[in-house]
Amino acid sequence: MAPSPREADPELQTELEKVAEATEKTIRHLLPETDLAENRLFLAMRHGTLGGGKRLRPFLTMHSASLFGVDALRSRRVAAAVEFVHCYSLIHDDLPAMDDAKLRRGKPTVHIQFDEATAILAGDSLLTLAFEILSEPETHEDPRVRCELIRALARAAGGHGMAGGQMLDLIGEDVEFDLGTISRLQRMKTGKLMAFACEAGAILGKGNEPHRKALCNYAFDLGLAFQVTDDILDVEADPQDTGKDSGKDSQAGKSTFVSTMGKEQARNRAEMLVHQAIAHLKIFDGRAVMLQRLAHYVLERRA
Ligand code: IPE
Ligand code: IPE
Ligand code: MG
Ligand code: MG
Ligand code: MG
Repeated sequence: MAPSPREADPELQTELEKVAEATEKTIRHLLPETDLAENRLFLAMRHGTLGGGKRLRPFLTMHSASLFGVDALRSRRVAAAVEFVHCYSLIHDDLPAMDDAKLRRGKPTVHIQFDEATAILAGDSLLTLAFEILSEPETHEDPRVRCELIRALARAAGGHGMAGGQMLDLIGEDVEFDLGTISRLQRMKTGKLMAFACEAGAILGKGNEPHRKALCNYAFDLGLAFQVTDDILDVEADPQDTGKDSGKDSQAGKSTFVSTMGKEQARNRAEMLVHQAIAHLKIFDGRAVMLQRLAHYVLERRA
């Protein structure tokens, strides 16, 4: 049996755990319990964001920011904002109108634990909270930096990014897409937000254009590889490991790399993309070692 990521790279595992802990703490701080009459909404937001998830996007933000010497208090806020957008996308992705999923991160999905209307509102509120956080001076004292973060996240999450990718994903249940279109949809639905997570570190640190571009390209390729392995896991993973139901893509008749080229070729494609992603990090002269290790983890992951 192949070694698990934990056995294969204990240092990366320790780092992932550190980021996950810091993210959990930051989210608790940014999303406190309330005793307001509308508390049900905040309970649903906390259910969808706390106590689970690999926190890979926060990892990307924290580690790209550290390349530019950004204060961790700042990068944690941006990391939490990215995670809020990711969690919103998962809450809506799980709704009956989309993937109709009942299990997420080993727990009932938000609409199962609460109800559909509450899940829609929890997603809406997480998305808007992310932009509120980015707009605050605690995130960066320079308003131009804050504005740039807001614009980049809006582009990554909207119609030409994650939401547009989700639209293509749904259309792909009825239409058989070619590989080019599947690649574009997956880059949009998963790659764009990951690219923002990485680029955000460079924006916070006022990195130069070549460094920013390199990080964006790295994460864009990584994001596509990540979605390819997600599609492979949908076919072969144990829900005990992933914390979500398996077999959803084929049940819905989705167009994925796996449905089009089979598991083996999809895995080869993911490997090629990961090598391509790592090549973009050359510009950092070996300093981006954690980002490099994360790319290998994307291939080996079982959850
Ligand atoms: C799941 O993302 C959705 C995809 C983009 C494939 P993750 O696999 O990162 O989910 P969590 O955050 O660890 O739950
Ligand atoms: C979802 O992709 C990507 C999002 C933008 C939420 P999937 O539908 O494959 O994600 P899982 O498998 O439900 O986590
Ligand atoms: Mg989906
Ligand atoms: Mg889904
Ligand atoms: Mg999936």
